[in-house]
Amino acid sequence: MHRNRKILLGTLFAALSVFTAAELFAQADVIEKRQKLMKSNSEAAKAIKAAAESKDYATIEMKAKDIMGNAEKIPDLFPKGSTQGKTKAKPEIWEKMDEFSKNPGKLKKAASELADAAKDKDDQAVTVKVKALGEVCGNCHKAFRAEKYSE
Ligand code: HEC
Repeated sequence: MHRNRKILLGTLFAALSVFTAAELFAQADVIEKRQKLMKSNSEAAKAIKAAAESKDYATIEMKAKDIMGNAEKIPDLFPKGSTQGKTKAKPEIWEKMDEFSKNPGKLKKAASELADAAKDKDDQAVTVKVKALGEVCGNCHKAFRAEKYSE
């Protein structure tokens, strides 16, 4: 009986530590995914700036749509407590989730307005919307992204 209990406890602990490791692994995974998505945002934004200079409206529209797609994925990439690992995500994200949650929608809207301006080949509107898009990125970073990685 006594022995059985020991075995049972041992199994339980083993299961528990596996669970914790899996959880940490999942966190690292989600952090990596959101950083990858953000890098793709940054690549799209750079391509947009270059395309705006050469008035390559098709590229602007395509890249703005990439950012719209990215914006939709943002909410799922910040699960509660995903702060264990190399991340710049500030705890404020989860402390002020209501506020944070507005930003992906703002990003999608700004990117969509830029895509429309590019579709219309409206140079002036493109200039205005590129700037507005950059401000959405910057505002979210200012509030919710740390200067340095956590580790
Ligand atoms: C919803 C808020 C939000 C919006 C909108 C947003 N970002 Fe971010 N961004 C973050 C947060 C938070 C991080 C830190 C993620 C981490 O390290 O876990 C980040 C990280 C980054 C990084 C660094 C990635 C890395 O590898 O460490 C880049 C580059 C970036 N964002 C670019 C952009 C660009 C460009 C836009 C706009 C097109 C944008 N972001 C829009 C919140 C946002």
